[in-house]
Amino acid sequence: GYPFDETQLHSQALIVDGENLQKQIDELATFSDTPVPSVTRVLYTENDVIARRYIKMLMGLAGLSVREDAVGNIFGRWEGYEPNLAPVASGSHIDAIPYSGKYDGVVGVLGAIESINTLRRSGFKPRRSLDIIMFTSEEPTRFGISCLGSRLMAGSEILLKALETTVDNQNISFVDAARSAGYAQEKNDLTSVFLKKGSYAAFVELHIEQGPILEDEGISIGIVTAIAAPASIKVDFEGGGGHAGAVLMPYRNDAGLAAAQLALAVEKHVLESGSIDTVGTVGILDLHPGAINSIPSKSHLEIDTRDIDEERRNKVIKKVHDSAESIAKARGVRLAEFNIINQDPPAISDDSIVKAMISASEELNLSHKLMISRAYHDSLFMARVSPMGMIFIPCFKGYSHKPEEHASVQDISNGVRVLALTLAKLSQK
Ligand code: GLV
Ligand code: MN
Ligand code: MN
Ligand code: MN
Repeated sequence: GYPFDETQLHSQALIVDGENLQKQIDELATFSDTPVPSVTRVLYTENDVIARRYIKMLMGLAGLSVREDAVGNIFGRWEGYEPNLAPVASGSHIDAIPYSGKYDGVVGVLGAIESINTLRRSGFKPRRSLDIIMFTSEEPTRFGISCLGSRLMAGSEILLKALETTVDNQNISFVDAARSAGYAQEKNDLTSVFLKKGSYAAFVELHIEQGPILEDEGISIGIVTAIAAPASIKVDFEGGGGHAGAVLMPYRNDAGLAAAQLALAVEKHVLESGSIDTVGTVGILDLHPGAINSIPSKSHLEIDTRDIDEERRNKVIKKVHDSAESIAKARGVRLAEFNIINQDPPAISDDSIVKAMISASEELNLSHKLMISRAYHDSLFMARVSPMGMIFIPCFKGYSHKPEEHASVQDISNGVRVLALTLAKLSQK
């Protein structure tokens, strides 16, 4: 190797093959449980395994050496000329929630691989190694756990413990599901997934904004300064059930109505925070037995709430808990479970990475602005073990988590160039 002057990497040298990248995005989208334009790709299912194979193949074609950990986080390494230094990493996820789009996460995996191709074509040689990471299950779809792969990499003992007993809604255990996809082969070896602090010199994730600001303002690049604090809660009510005709209204303990009332209480407490930054969603509401002529004897809700202010979000959680108890009491149902699955703090981007992203944007003549990420990302957890930064690109009307999600090849290519130049800068440090 030889010391590389990154200033030689002027904008002309960084040529992204946008057409090929779009082809890859479209091809990956076909590995889905639901028809185009929607994408559904759930952890350790057949389509997830096929999609993983595709990613490993593209990493191989980019000349990366590929390894996988015990839960299927995939790493592709371009070795630097000083391979003993902590590497610089980039990556995202390719799992997709039911009926979502083809860009969420995918842009940050395929785009990161293309950033390597771009750097190679420019003649660049990294000093620190560059790792491209495909994280396992950023989405909580199957096991109710968000950022499963990165959370475990960040050394979450709580998650490690939870994974011993976690099952999906078909009662398939996490470990059995992982084994069926070829992972978790050795018993109790999941601590091997943990990363030591200092394993990476920097981590940078490229992602669609999932909000309307960049498109509205006609700005090419969002530079993320902080990621909002997410939490999720599972709630179960149990009531008497019974015949929908025969049990008269005064004699009911309707678990379904308790759930409906709690869903409205979530909205009320969120609005009462007084800040536009507080949000809350009941995205899952299941009734048992789910028959038109049977009073619900059980109900199940899953609540997502987030804020850029952790304390304010925690206040909402407390109020929702109080409401769940008072609603149960008033309706004569049992609050069988109120389980806070995660209550994560926000993450702050690293100053020197922010600076690197700003100068990369400027050198590439791309308009940019500092912004907050309201969605969570694997970066939220990578920030616990590494300095972190994120690059946002505009997406159509800010749409995400639905089939209409779209980002233009031009915007994606701009993001890949900023990522490539940022990785180049960080790898020379
Ligand atoms: C995950 O994708 C989230 O931000 O909800
Ligand atoms: Mn998502
Ligand atoms: Mn995502
Ligand atoms: Mn996300």
